[in-house]
Amino acid sequence: MFKKSSLYVLTIMLVAATVLSACGGAAAPTAAPQPATSAPAKPAATTAPAAPASKVPVGIVLPTKDEPRWIQDQTRFQDALKAAGYEAQILFSQGDSAKEKANVEALISQGIKVLIICPQDGTAAAAAADAARKAGVKVISYDRLIRDTDAVDYYVTFDSVAVGAAWGQYLIDKATGKGNNLYLYAGAPSDNNAFLFFEGAWNKLQPKIADGTFVIKNSSQAVALQDKAKLTRDEMAKIIGQVTTEWKFDVAKNRAEDNLTAAKPADKGTVFIVAPNDGTARAIADAFKADKDVKTYYISGQDAEKASIQYIIDGKQSMTVLKDVRTLVKDAIAAAVAYLKGGTPEKTNSYNNGKVDVPAKPSAIVTVTKDNVKAAIVDSGYYPASDFTGLK
Ligand code: BGC
Repeated sequence: MFKKSSLYVLTIMLVAATVLSACGGAAAPTAAPQPATSAPAKPAATTAPAAPASKVPVGIVLPTKDEPRWIQDQTRFQDALKAAGYEAQILFSQGDSAKEKANVEALISQGIKVLIICPQDGTAAAAAADAARKAGVKVISYDRLIRDTDAVDYYVTFDSVAVGAAWGQYLIDKATGKGNNLYLYAGAPSDNNAFLFFEGAWNKLQPKIADGTFVIKNSSQAVALQDKAKLTRDEMAKIIGQVTTEWKFDVAKNRAEDNLTAAKPADKGTVFIVAPNDGTARAIADAFKADKDVKTYYISGQDAEKASIQYIIDGKQSMTVLKDVRTLVKDAIAAAVAYLKGGTPEKTNSYNNGKVDVPAKPSAIVTVTKDNVKAAIVDSGYYPASDFTGLK
């Protein structure tokens, strides 16, 4: 993307340089950006003076360092920026909406023009978005949608409903006969994506629950709604509230263990598990694997975290969904550049955030199983083979 045109490269370099200073950056460029025909100048890490505040147009805020998913995003942002000859530091909210707001306020006071933010809590982040809008800053919601405010200009995302549908389809393809044991787990209710993932899974699984292929074992709320093909947000909230992992490994593990304690041996045997992401999938899979009455389990996931790719190779996790973070980063930077140039980013869809329809360009996702893990993850250049053992 950086080689497309000289203007584009120069603009990216400007963004890269200024993201650095916006984030109290590690390195600023030592020289003015070079013409696109020559390689971008490499920064000297510590000696360069920070760019003046008036030249700080973009800030990036991510939710937590405690999940490999967001470290992936940080790394991919850094890689993309480095490709233009720079390094960047990115601010993390560490699961705390107050810290997130403080991060955003700090960036605003440094003079950013565009904010790329993945909210910790979609609704709580509205205040940060409002503050940015008030300061004339364009707000790009990154991966997760900021809710209940009109101060979101654009949403860079994957097709999250398709993620849930991929889980549902995978489990359907593995099930035979009727009465298959189904366990449902969800993300954090404070994350709008948790609803989109659940909606996608429900779209696929509900007809198969209604026809008796699957029997829900761990959610009375889901059982009460199992004849409804389309759930309202409030109805989904009831189910998600009962089976949430909060996106936390320990919550996921404890909930799975509680469910297994409550279940009878007949509810175990071969089980089908909707797990909402890779971190929680590994925690839930470990709990099911440790139960002597569970003979076989099929479990979903998402994010293609390295630990889960190894779990898939080892037969401990059944599938993941690759959301190629390089694409998301590229789209986020392209959107920021569009705003800085006075334009608007490409829109192919929109998502309602409770207040407005936010323009978006959702990206495709890929189902990864043991069968295609080498092609999808290694041959595609996403991760090197040397990161894994036992890959064939
Ligand atoms: C993201 C997932 C991630 C989850 C937990 C979701 O909003 O889309 O990729 O696993 O949050 O951090």
